[in-house]
Formats: sequence, C-alpha cells, structure tokens
Amino acid sequence: MKTQLSFVSLDGIETELLAVLAVDTQSAKGSDAKPQPTLLTDNKAVNSAAAAVLSSGEYKAGANETLVLHAPAGLAAKRLLIVGLGKQAKATVHSVRNAAGTAVRFAKPRGIREMVFVLPENTQWSAARSARAVVEGGFVGDYDPDTYRSDRKDQSIQAFTVAAPEKSDQAALKAAFAEGVIIGESQNFTRMLVNEPGNKLTPTILGQRAAQMAKEVGLECAVSSTEKLHELKMGAFWSVSQGSAEPPALIVLRYEPEGVSDGPVLGLVGKGITFDTGGISIKPADKMELMKYDMAGGAAMLGAMRAIALLKPKVRVIGIVCAAENMPDGKAQKPGDVQTAMSGKTIEIINTDAEGRLVLADGLAYARQLGATHLIDAATLTGACVVALGPVNGGAFSNDDETYAKFQSALATSGEKFWRLPLGDEYADMIKSDIGDIKNTGGRAGGAITAAEFLKVFAEDTPWIHLDIAGMAWIEDSRPYIAKGPSGVAVRSILEWGRSYE
Ligand code: BES
Ligand code: MN
Ligand code: ZN
Repeated sequence: MKTQLSFVSLDGIETELLAVLAVDTQSAKGSDAKPQPTLLTDNKAVNSAAAAVLSSGEYKAGANETLVLHAPAGLAAKRLLIVGLGKQAKATVHSVRNAAGTAVRFAKPRGIREMVFVLPENTQWSAARSARAVVEGGFVGDYDPDTYRSDRKDQSIQAFTVAAPEKSDQAALKAAFAEGVIIGESQNFTRMLVNEPGNKLTPTILGQRAAQMAKEVGLECAVSSTEKLHELKMGAFWSVSQGSAEPPALIVLRYEPEGVSDGPVLGLVGKGITFDTGGISIKPADKMELMKYDMAGGAAMLGAMRAIALLKPKVRVIGIVCAAENMPDGKAQKPGDVQTAMSGKTIEIINTDAEGRLVLADGLAYARQLGATHLIDAATLTGACVVALGPVNGGAFSNDDETYAKFQSALATSGEKFWRLPLGDEYADMIKSDIGDIKNTGGRAGGAITAAEFLKVFAEDTPWIHLDIAGMAWIEDSRPYIAKGPSGVAVRSILEWGRSYE
C-alpha cells in the first residue's frame, strides 16, 4: 500500500472514495435524545454534500458505522464515505485508528484500489496524533490473511492518501505520518509471520525471515541452533526442541544507535513456538491448527525491532526470539523429566504443554547475560489468561512498578489494551518442586499468574514486564477495522515502551 499525505482542498480531489469522519455530538441522554451526527471537517462542500443524509436520522455516527453517498454534489470524488467515531465525549485518537481501518475494509471488497482519507479537524487530540493513527489504522485494515488462496479477492488498496487542511502544521504532520507508516508496516510484518502455518514457518525459516528483515532495516542479526543451545547450557529451551525433527532457532537482533554507549539496554524476548502440539502431554485435536500462532510473541518482538530500527530511538535494544516446535516423539521430553536451565535452576516437567515458559526461561537469562538492564517478554503463554481476560485485554505482569508505569504510559499512545495481574509469594509457592527448584505448572488455579511467577524466577532482579497475549494474538471474528486472524498485538506497545527509555 502506497501512502501519501497531501495538503489540498477537498472539493477538487478526484478519487474513487473520499472518507470523512463523523461524531455524535448529542450530549443529552434518554431514548428521545436523537443522535446528532457531525462531520469532523470544516470543508463546506463536504458538509453540504452530506447535510441531507445527516439530518435524516438514518445515520447515527456510531463507532465504525458507515454510510456511502455516490456522486456527492459539489465534490470531484466519486463516492463520499462517512465513518462514525461514536459519541463525541467518548471518541479518542484510537477510535480514529479503527475508523481508518473501517474505511479501508469498506473499500477493499468493492474493488476500490485508491482512496483519500480526510484528516479529522476540531478534535480533543492533536492533528499529528490523528495523522499517525490514520496511517496505522489504514495498514491494519488493509491486511488480509488469505495468503494461500488462489482467488484472493480482497486485494490491497494500492494508494492511500491522507488529506490535511492547507493551514496545518505541515512539518509536524509529515513526521507523525512517516512514523505511522513504519509502525503500520511493522505490525503487518508481524501479522504476516503469525499467519504462516507450521509447515511454511519452521524455527529455521523464522530465523531466515528475521535475518532478511534485519538486513533490510540495518539491524545486527545472529541466528544459531542446537549447538549454540548446548554451548550456552540452555537446557530448558532445548528440552522443548528435542522432540522435533526441526532444529530450534535462537534469534538475536541488536539495535545499537550511534553515540549511545551507556544508559539502559532493553531486552525484548519473544516466545517463538512455530507449532505447539503440546508434546507428550498432547493437546486435543479441536482447534489445534491454531497453535501455529504460538510464535506470536516472538513475531511481535521482530515487528517491534523492525520499527525501532527505522524510528531510531537513542537507546540500545536486544531482541531475542526462542523458536522451536513442540512435538511428541521418541526423543521428546516426558512429564517427570528434570531439566537444568541456563541460569542453573532445575525444572521438574509436569506438563510438556507448558513449553513457552521453558524457552523463555533461557531467553530471559540470555538477555541478561548479553547486558539487558530492562526486560520485556511477550508470549501466547496460557489458556488461563484467555479465560481470565477474554479477547479484550492482554495480561501484563511486572516485578517493578516504575518499569510498569512506563508501559502503562506506552499503552495510552499505542491504544492497545493490557490489564495488570498480580504476582506474589503465595503464587510462587505453587510452583515449588519436590525434586528440583521449580516445576513448570502450578495447576489450573491462577494458571496465568503461576506461569508469570515461573518467568520471574529467570528475570531475577532485573526490572521485567511479561505480556501474555494468548487471547489477543489471534482474532476469532472479523471486526469492521481488522480481519479475523493474526492481530499483531503488542508490537505498538513494546515499541512505545522502548522509546520511553530514549
Ligand atoms: N500455547 C499454549 C497457550 C495458548 C492457549 C495459547 C490457547 C493460545 C491459545 C501454551 O503453550 C499451553 O499449552 N499452555 C497450557 C499450560 C498448562 C499445561 C499449564 C495451557 O494454557 O493450557
Ligand atoms: Mn503448550
Ligand atoms: Zn505454547
């Protein structure tokens, strides 16, 4: 998708589709308070073209509600699309991001390949924030997961133009717009990886994709496998991989900005299970095909590293993805086995399906060894997190309030939803082992928390955030602004958190 920011009057724009936003300015409550849809543009021609339908009462400007007018009077555009943001008091820049996605997803199945989106005016937030959100949302909406369909119908939008008023602060808008392009493309890079099936994206191939991306954006990248795992004594990581014919991949990316030789070093660690059968503690067949997305945390780290490389914040960042396939086999690990992690801690394997925490244990230890002063991990770690928070919030955990506060601020910019869940000694007690230091499951109760407690052992005294994205990385039902399938969740939040250390 080619993007462009233009500063011209809307009247004369020749396009297949001109999209404009509307809010409901009705503030009275009650059943007879009629919606008052109001366009977020001062342009006279656009307002008069829409006047009749807006006063008819048939369009309410609800969130992502659309209405299209063909041959709008007084405009050169072939169609005028109105997209709602909902009640004015509740609308945010994040509603704008979604509305932009909605406009793109309105256009795609109608064979429209070129469109112009009107940057909203008169909002509570800055025009620059809108510019960034519109491109991000445009990219998010443009992605469809139908990679292997011979009859790919919903082809991409080829040209997506954002029209801003001539009187705008053009430099600020251009900068924000350019950021939005990088972030939107990085999120889609992650989604493309997450969407790949297990046979097309083995740990080795994930390593190749990471290396290729790193080369394109100028990151250092090293991908190693079995031998290196043994050399580093990554007994936890290896134990997951040992039952698969596919070798593991330890992917290490480094972003080293020029002239930054001290200050924090961020360690981004992602779970990269390219397929999770459960291993010997095998999963039931129902929905097992979705376990191709068990590398979504790793893919999010790769997307975030891509964006970091292009946005160039002044902070050093290390990205680590622990990629493996979790398979049952004569060589696979068994319940009851005891593994020694890189940190030296011994782990009793209770359930081979609790494999994500095993690969992350060594990933976190390695990030610390490489000098990370602050850690963040992302993983499709537990079904328990899905049960707790549903498909609405990701689970977040931290051993350090100050570090978490920075993440909380990052969420305000990213628009992603995470909910902090507790940690505590009583939970840590639930994963004590009789035979070794810890066991890899603590039973059904509090499963997302005991998984986080397990990781915390390996973060040791380093400030750390854990994101459980099991319920968020794959969207079960399509929404007006995003296709069903891989969401690319966490890329934007990890990026913003990282930038806050600049
Ligand atoms: N990859 C799964 C978690 C998962 C579940 C991700 C649903 C996405 C959707 C993870 O490896 C797993 O199997 N976790 C087990 C842990 C249990 C054995 C303690 C779970 O959640 O059931
Ligand atoms: Mn599992
Ligand atoms: Zn898993």
